[in-house]
Amino acid sequence: MTTDTVHQTTTPAEIGGVGHSVRRMEDDRLIQGDGHYVDDIVLPGMLHLAMLRSPIPHGRIVSIDTAAAAAVPGVVAVLTGAALEGYGLAWMPTLSGDTQAVLATDKVRFQGQEVAAVIAESPYIAYDALDLIDVEYDALPPVLSPQQALADDAPLIRDEKEGQTDNRCYQWEAGDKEATDRAFEAADVVVTLDTHYPRSHPAPLETCACVADVNPATKHVTIYMTSQAPHVHRTLFAMVTGLPEQNIRIVSPDIGGGFGNKVPIYPGYVVATAASLVIGRPVKWVETRTENLISTGFARDYHMHGELALNSDGKILGLRVDMLSDNGAFFADAQPTRFKAGLFHIVTGSYDYPAAHVVTQGTYTNKAPGGVAYRCSFRVTEASYLIERLVQNAAYELGIDPAEIRMRNFIKPEQFPYESPTGFVYDSGDYPRALQMALDMVGYDELRAEQAAGRPDGKLVGIGIASFTEVVGAGKGSEYDIAGLRMFDSAELRVHPTGKAILKLGVRSQGQGHETTFAQIVANELGIPATDVRVQEGDTDNTPYGLGTYASRSTPVGGAATAVIARKLREKATKIAAHLLEASEDDMEWKAGTFSVKGSPGQSVTIQDVALAAYTNLPEGMEAGLEGVHYYDPPNMTYPFGSYVVVVDVDPDTGQWTVRRMVAVDDCGVRINPMIVDGQIHGGLAEGYAMSSMQFITFDEDGNCIGSNFMDYLVPTAWETPRFELGATVTPSPHHPIGAKGVGESATVGSPAAFVNAVIDALAHLGVRNIDMPVMPARVWSAMKDARAAQG
Ligand code: CDP
Repeated sequence: MTTDTVHQTTTPAEIGGVGHSVRRMEDDRLIQGDGHYVDDIVLPGMLHLAMLRSPIPHGRIVSIDTAAAAAVPGVVAVLTGAALEGYGLAWMPTLSGDTQAVLATDKVRFQGQEVAAVIAESPYIAYDALDLIDVEYDALPPVLSPQQALADDAPLIRDEKEGQTDNRCYQWEAGDKEATDRAFEAADVVVTLDTHYPRSHPAPLETCACVADVNPATKHVTIYMTSQAPHVHRTLFAMVTGLPEQNIRIVSPDIGGGFGNKVPIYPGYVVATAASLVIGRPVKWVETRTENLISTGFARDYHMHGELALNSDGKILGLRVDMLSDNGAFFADAQPTRFKAGLFHIVTGSYDYPAAHVVTQGTYTNKAPGGVAYRCSFRVTEASYLIERLVQNAAYELGIDPAEIRMRNFIKPEQFPYESPTGFVYDSGDYPRALQMALDMVGYDELRAEQAAGRPDGKLVGIGIASFTEVVGAGKGSEYDIAGLRMFDSAELRVHPTGKAILKLGVRSQGQGHETTFAQIVANELGIPATDVRVQEGDTDNTPYGLGTYASRSTPVGGAATAVIARKLREKATKIAAHLLEASEDDMEWKAGTFSVKGSPGQSVTIQDVALAAYTNLPEGMEAGLEGVHYYDPPNMTYPFGSYVVVVDVDPDTGQWTVRRMVAVDDCGVRINPMIVDGQIHGGLAEGYAMSSMQFITFDEDGNCIGSNFMDYLVPTAWETPRFELGATVTPSPHHPIGAKGVGESATVGSPAAFVNAVIDALAHLGVRNIDMPVMPARVWSAMKDARAAQG
């Protein structure tokens, strides 16, 4: 690890505040098999639900015969859409304001769509009975790409939606069209790129699951559920089912990875709850791996057209983007209402230029719903990929070094806060410093010399760069909401008389280490050792309301809420300390867990003494206790950034490429736990490498999903994953109470362009400017062949 600015810790190691690489406290439990996941939950009288899914991508349902399945011994019920219609539950609202079929009634709209459910005494009986359900379909032609979806003769997929006359799902715009047109008229060079970011899947180790437990006597509903946003899900459940919200409790126990997959509400959750309501017994639904891969939480699938206008010195003048996304049959991801271009307006990247115009269009197709924030905030990954590919190609077009062209265009440190041409205000950054560190670490000049020297002998070395800016930590609440719910987050802190504390949060970890890092924030602000702070998340009855964990918002929003409430408690603690020391509050000094009287350091009390006094010996008239809750509404989002450099060797005979070096310099502001941040970056880089090299889900011409198992959908193991060399700069966020920005998704956002640019860089002298992801050897080989043929 290389750093040029190290955050100074203000607490000793035994307290473990911000800046300490405290070992992950949750790992004792998680790595010793003592985690408690949804599938571990077994309730008395529990039944099991299995889902019948459509084998075809598009077709009318003519009839469904469930009699044979219902007659199987051990089957308790068979549910269809028609049965749910009786309860008003055949359709449900989505988090992006669309509607989605719970169990299909009229048509099926993608392969794998939920058609009927069997509820039985055991999962084996339920799955066996599925085979006995007889569904007759009248097949319709499938629509399998956005281009097909927009064709004049395309079948209408969402024919049940009033007023829907075509397969358009949304059209958003950002920036200034006229100013951008003027920039292009003034340009010396225009660089164009058409590329596809393929459909991918977050593929968490644990699939989606729930246990719905309706108490027939009290009508209280407890739903144990793989949920990244339990409070939002509770509210949506109340709206969908009509059950009073105070009677609904969502418990999201340990989660085995989410990556955006566990943000939407899936039909399985709703059907299990409806079944438990009707039958009066708990019902468990656990997806199989194939169900997870074909029917839930897809991401990406963006067809992107970008144009960059530059002058002959390589200065960017403007950007034009036209983006077409394949959203599948229902628009079901969480879409903050006022992200005008679905965050695609961050496509302007890390560069300073006056004009940009961005149009993003979404289409319905006969694929499972897509668009989840898979380690990115609502399309930032695709946007970052596009701008970094364009800038790299501009360098080749103008004969300027790819690092140099970035340095010439970066927003300068003194320009922050910086308003981008699409209206975002970037909080802070030092982009040249991060890129320079990455270049120094990799030995850039020597590598360029080696590349040039090897070319006459046919050696293909590529050096790819990506300098990304991310945007994380939504709201602010007045501008950003999901389904009308403002994007704030919350923290409730209770310090007990013995000086130990419990912190309850509205966010929900899926493995990111919140039990450690959020305890460290409390340790930092109150001086209570991090190991004395228990962090609780995921139970809506026992945590304050929050919008959940996705798109790296926990630290920027939930972390800020934690710091603010801890500071408020410290204010009260200062008053109690002054009372104990018989001194004036103004004379109190604070240092890592100890209050002392200015000028008399011997006169002091600890935070633990104060905690006891909060319940036993208070100043006259003061309310007892040391507890509080804070709802934090961020004034702005945070903008982590970084520069990545990848070095590859390409085999000129086969197109096989191997990563020789991968250097990643990240800046996520103040690092609460540097070790955990490194772990987040390692994970994100592995995912970025997977997308660039091997990972995609596609469909054959009949609409069959290719990628329904881990033989077809490749998840890299430690064997394939390259070694990563990490560096860090620290540019605090000016508005975050501890200067932190989010990091959970940065590396996945930033790295795919670096890997792809490296392969392109090895072939750029042949005229190659694009190879679509995943950059598999066959694609590289055919790009080389075409380029050589074009050169004669
Ligand atoms: O929302 P999510 O937890 O996925 O992402 P995050 O807020 O970026 O945090 C991921 C993990 O890295 C958490 O454990 C954070 O507390 C930690 N982190 C950190 O230690 N320092 C930062 N500046 C940012 C995140």
